Amino acid sequence: MPDTTITEIQYRTVFDSRGVETLEVDVITEKGFGRVAAPFGAPGSRGKFEAPSYAPGGLSESVEILEKMVIPSLIGLDALEQEKIDTLLTQLDGTPNFEKIGGNTSAVLSTAVAKAAADALNIPMFRLFCKNEGGSLPYPLGNMIGGGAHSLGRAPDMQEHLAVPIGAPTVKQAIEINLKVHEEIGKLLEMRDPGFAGGTDDENAWTANLNDVEALQFIKQATDKIGNAEGVEIRMGLDLAGDRLWDPARKVYRYEREGATRTPRQQLDFLGELIEQFDLIYVEDGFNSNDYDSFALLNKNFGDRCLICADDIYASNYERTKKGIEKSSAGAMIIKPNQIGTITGAKNTASLASAHGLKIIVSHRSGETVDDSIAHLAVAWSALMIKTGVKGGERLAKLNELIRIERTYGKSHFIKWSF
Ligand code: PGA
Ligand code: ZN
Repeated sequence: MPDTTITEIQYRTVFDSRGVETLEVDVITEKGFGRVAAPFGAPGSRGKFEAPSYAPGGLSESVEILEKMVIPSLIGLDALEQEKIDTLLTQLDGTPNFEKIGGNTSAVLSTAVAKAAADALNIPMFRLFCKNEGGSLPYPLGNMIGGGAHSLGRAPDMQEHLAVPIGAPTVKQAIEINLKVHEEIGKLLEMRDPGFAGGTDDENAWTANLNDVEALQFIKQATDKIGNAEGVEIRMGLDLAGDRLWDPARKVYRYEREGATRTPRQQLDFLGELIEQFDLIYVEDGFNSNDYDSFALLNKNFGDRCLICADDIYASNYERTKKGIEKSSAGAMIIKPNQIGTITGAKNTASLASAHGLKIIVSHRSGETVDDSIAHLAVAWSALMIKTGVKGGERLAKLNELIRIERTYGKSHFIKWSF
């Protein structure tokens, strides 16, 4: 029997970084072992077009389906045949978007299969998906100040205010610079905001009583200081999670903290002003996830200097991404394996996007586990960036794995920034 033959699959429920119950599976092969627990997006933040996390009856129904239907079908298969296994998972589900067994149920299995295969062959997981010298290290895109659904609506209206050290020569230095920027922002908030009590959100970004422009000003001050001290260019970005701001009845974006509403046209102008004022390099989900046209306008106006990134609108989904490519709605896209349910599904979407010149950003979820697979997927798919929180064990699990990959395999090259 080959070392990669699946002999046993065990499962249990454990708790994620938010303390929410989540599914963990162990795939055991003749000579390998792969364990993965599922991450989870925040209610109000996870995209409406992504695969539902679990079966309609919730986690308990997913577990039942797993035991009765899915696990027996996988025993005896070769874990190296990722595409075959992912196709089988898709067929067992039988719906277009993993509505029967759930995207998380499927994604943990798919990922644990890859981990077990890599373990059996004694190679790092990224090598399964990019042979020889392929792959590259991503820039860490760090969440510095949180807001929106991640901060109870009491912090800035936009969900994430980000920084990325695009001038850093190694991934280790880039991660360290993000940590210094995060620390510096904390000090600035402590000095300027008498109500600041050092609070952070689920992704360990600071939560503070600021509006979005103020949040960007704090980050700018910190990135200027740390960037000058380190001699490294650090740029800023935003994830608006546009669906959460969008009021479909009134057709406006509601900024409750700021006390403002913006029509899609005003939103477009506002984002343009922020891109210019703060020299933003990255704007994710600036509009609601049906509005391909506003995405395309922003991309037309600013795509030559800022990555207009699609997360909830493309939802790692091949067809939604194809439509966006036809409309030139984005210059970058987020890939989250549990949005689409399998590694192969995520890979196919990422390949389509890359082939059309989109930059790939592999992303964590707000509810996370210590699983480090996304670090390997980011390297394998030559993602330009990996989006994670800067601090916290479940965030550093991914970042530290990138340091290990860099150190062990000498892959110190980033994709050179090319605007
Ligand atoms: P989520 O947020 O994991 O809560 O969906 C992350 C993101 O929107 O990028
Ligand atoms: Zn997002």
